[in-house]
Amino acid sequence: MASDQRDGAVVTGAASRIGRAIAAGLAKDGFSVVVADLDEANGRAAAKEIAAANQGRAIFQRVDVTDRRSVSAAIEACTRQFSSIKVMVNNAGFNKPEPFLEVSEAIWHKIIDVNALGVLIGIQEAANAMSPPEPKARSSTQPRLRAVLATPTSLPIAPANSLSLRSRTPARERLPATASPSMPLLRE
Ligand SMILES: NC(=O)c1ccc[n+]([C@@H]2O[C@H](COP(=O)([O-])OP(=O)(O)OC[C@H]3O[C@@H](n4cnc5c(N)ncnc54)[C@H](O)[C@@H]3O)[C@@H](O)[C@H]2O)c1
Repeated sequence: MASDQRDGAVVTGAASRIGRAIAAGLAKDGFSVVVADLDEANGRAAAKEIAAANQGRAIFQRVDVTDRRSVSAAIEACTRQFSSIKVMVNNAGFNKPEPFLEVSEAIWHKIIDVNALGVLIGIQEAANAMSPPEPKARSSTQPRLRAVLATPTSLPIAPANSLSLRSRTPARERLPATASPSMPLLRE
């Protein structure tokens, strides 16, 4: 994905493994990247390394993806520091595999909060930040906005790697063609 260096990207869960690699890849492709994670030590280290290799185009922002204000603050940091947000990667995930009959409700809630609610919050906050002001007359040439969703595998939802969102359209009309029937919150 090519970019000029004014395009900002936020990658959640970018302190480690897959998210870190996505953030590094986006920076290599020319994006300016917010490494957004709960893990401050590894997040700062990842941002430092990515920035060093890409003319300083990475910063760390502590984010809890289950906290809307925290996600919104990371997106604001991206637009403030890099002038725009063009890509949102909802990569942060949590899982704690346990024998089925021993799964605790607390762990279940945490998995759902991080892997599902966190993705919903990330998409909503990024889509709102990407949307231009409401046009007086909608035109078919209205630019399409793009958000990227990395779907955690520990939930029974179909993969949707890329969503194209029309700006300021009602939530129902924003449904991606690939949305799964097993996402009733988004379908109804
Ligand atoms: N590793 C795999 O084989 C695999 C396969 C398919 C999908 N996935 C999904 O890809 C994503 C990344 O996988 P990974 O293996 O790199 O995971 P990982 O556990 O190595 O990294 C997850 C990152 O998310 C961060 N995180 C956790 N909770 C958070 C929260 N509430 N707010 C902000 N950050 C939080 C963690 O600090 C960590 O840096 C996950 O969503 C995972 O479900 C992983």
